[in-house]
Amino acid sequence: MTEVKKNIIVRYVQEKDRDDWVRLWKKFIATYEDPKLPDGIEKANFDRFIDPEVKMWSALAFLRDEITGIEKAIGFTDFFTHPSTWQIQDKTYLNDLFVDDEFRVGGVGRKLIEFVYSEADKMGTPAVYWNTDHFNHRAQLLYTKVASLTHKRIYKRDGY
Ligand SMILES: CC(C)(COP(=O)(O)OP(=O)(O)OC[C@H]1O[C@@H](n2cnc3c(N)ncnc32)[C@H](O)[C@@H]1OP(=O)(O)O)[C@@H](O)C(=O)NCCC(=O)NCCS
Repeated sequence: MTEVKKNIIVRYVQEKDRDDWVRLWKKFIATYEDPKLPDGIEKANFDRFIDPEVKMWSALAFLRDEITGIEKAIGFTDFFTHPSTWQIQDKTYLNDLFVDDEFRVGGVGRKLIEFVYSEADKMGTPAVYWNTDHFNHRAQLLYTKVASLTHKRIYKRDGY
């Protein structure tokens, strides 16, 4: 696992990363039982990530082979900023986080969250937050180390 930590690079996606992001996104979505996503969501998401007019971004984590220099995409995080009536600065919502199975518990998830923290600081939107399923214990092993659990519950309009 220490080896994994050493060779991880996290950076914003570029057009050339589309296939890698879609490959990992499909694996991420497969971890949900019945996600009910619209057709074309992958393209719509990626188009928004690379559109400078849209405040929604994605970063990929790459494992770099020290000998060949080849980088393999092994995880990603998607996030966006939005205004809030409770503060002057926008907030940052961390929408998605995923690390490919065989590279887990090697510090990659933490690096992805730290990337979002660092970019949010640079943008002047340091209030980063997210949610997770209450039964996602694995993710929470990481979250309790980098953030605090709130007392909020999430409600949503029926049918949406
Ligand atoms: C959640 C997820 C992104 C975590 O990624 P990861 O790369 O394994 O996380 P990290 O290795 O950075 O962090 C794991 C931390 O939690 C701890 N941890 C994680 N799993 C653990 C386990 N099974 N046993 C003990 N500790 C564990 C580690 O000690 C580590 O802490 P450290 O950084 O102080 O060493 C990954 O498991 C994943 O992609 N899961 C499927 C998708 C998912 O659930 N996404 C989140 C949706 S909200």
